[in-house]
Amino acid sequence: MAQILSGREAAQAWKSHIRKEVAGRLAQGKRAPHLAAILVGEDPASQAYVKGKVRDCEEVGFASTLITLSEGTSQAELLEHVARLNRNPEVDGFIVQLPLPIHLNPDEVLLAIDPQKDVDGFHPENVGRMALGLPTYLPATPYGMLLLLEHYGISPAGKHAVVVGRSNIVGSPMSILLSRNSKMGNATVTLAHSKTSNLKELCQSADLLVAAIGRPKYVTADMIRPGAVVLDVGINRVDGRLVGDVDFDSAMDVAGAITPVPGGVGLMTRVGLLMNTLHAARHR
Ligand SMILES: NC(=O)c1ccc[n+]([C@@H]2O[C@H](COP(=O)([O-])OP(=O)(O)OC[C@H]3O[C@@H](n4cnc5c(N)ncnc54)[C@H](OP(=O)(O)O)[C@@H]3O)[C@@H](O)[C@H]2O)c1
Repeated sequence: MAQILSGREAAQAWKSHIRKEVAGRLAQGKRAPHLAAILVGEDPASQAYVKGKVRDCEEVGFASTLITLSEGTSQAELLEHVARLNRNPEVDGFIVQLPLPIHLNPDEVLLAIDPQKDVDGFHPENVGRMALGLPTYLPATPYGMLLLLEHYGISPAGKHAVVVGRSNIVGSPMSILLSRNSKMGNATVTLAHSKTSNLKELCQSADLLVAAIGRPKYVTADMIRPGAVVLDVGINRVDGRLVGDVDFDSAMDVAGAITPVPGGVGLMTRVGLLMNTLHAARHR
């Protein structure tokens, strides 16, 4: 039976670390880190995500501001809100919750965010800094996965990591971070995607398998090397239940360690955002 890599447990541990640092900052007369979020429209999943982020801020002692804008908000209005947050000296970092309503251009919004306040780590400047190994904000989901591994004392060094999925926010940055010459890197990385021809064989050779595909239970036990560490990023709704990209029940018999869905990577993504906000406050 695989060890469960609990996002709940790791998130609690990292949050208590953050809480202590916030208390230290307050004791020195500094203000609490301040995260702002812009939410446009009524998408229930986005509303739930943003609420979770606000709750996290309260839990660790951050200040937070939630700006909710109606579905019909124009690009110009949204950009004005971004510009205001860029200028606001009381705000250390902010995010614009994605996806945006269809009439809005997310790329233009992303480029308008001050890279110093881009705590999602999505701005091209920060992506470039990440790729070069320079100090920056790491994209929250890959960052959260590295924090999870660190919590459980699992080092990627020397492992063959197979990352399935090459999105700009999960798979690609995870492949870069795992391959860097850094504390939570030094893996030998294969990045797989929908055009990969020998996916099963590749996955079978993985010591560390990251599934970021968006297809329920796509990774089955026969694709997993016995004893492998499996990180399941997928969040898929099936018959009203959340399931990952990995067939958890069968994978449990083969993997050495595995993240559950829910209660795994998703919670760590939120910790990644808190850590970036803490870094932002430190640098201001
Ligand atoms: N836990 C969290 O915090 C968190 C955060 C973000 C996303 N997610 C979830 O993670 C999943 C992935 O998200 P994403 O934003 O990275 O998705 P995405 O942008 O849709 O990318 C999916 C990737 O999977 C690849 N793929 C699709 N079908 C495949 C197949 N049959 N075999 C191999 N690769 C395949 C695609 O390949 P191509 O590039 O060739 O199309 C693509 O690179 C989703 O379920 C999402 O909800 C969770």
